[in-house]
Amino acid sequence: MRSSRCRSLSATCSTACGSATRPTWAAGSRSASASASTVFESPRERFAPVLDAAELADGTLRRVELEGESVLLAQSESGEVCAISAVCSHMGGPLDEGERDGDVVVCPWHGSRFDLCTGAVEGGPAVYPQPRYETRVRAGKVEIRAARDD
Ligand code: FES
Repeated sequence: MRSSRCRSLSATCSTACGSATRPTWAAGSRSASASASTVFESPRERFAPVLDAAELADGTLRRVELEGESVLLAQSESGEVCAISAVCSHMGGPLDEGERDGDVVVCPWHGSRFDLCTGAVEGGPAVYPQPRYETRVRAGKVEIRAARDD
């Protein structure tokens, strides 16, 4: 039986939707996503609505969840909607509870500084950048997906 999320043309689904092919989000299935019988895409791989854009207008940092990943959303000073991982690459601090300094977020645990749009480290102790997400605004909703160049 095919679920409403399943777009497979296969009649024998062995996963959550019953398709014989693996979902695109399954580990090691990236090559399978290119096949003609791909079932459904992960929200990480397609844009998914996560928040009303108006909730970012006052410069606040917002945390949303996308398929088990915590994502920090903010609007840059130039008006760009930006999204990076909300979990600090140093030791896992909650960046949504950090202070904002222009277009930089300061981790509340040890003070690492990250660019809100690129995820680049602007100050340690962290040495690894934050994963970032692509964003767009459609019908007043912020939509995000994992950046394809990371
Ligand atoms: S956990 Fe963020 S700076 Fe250490």
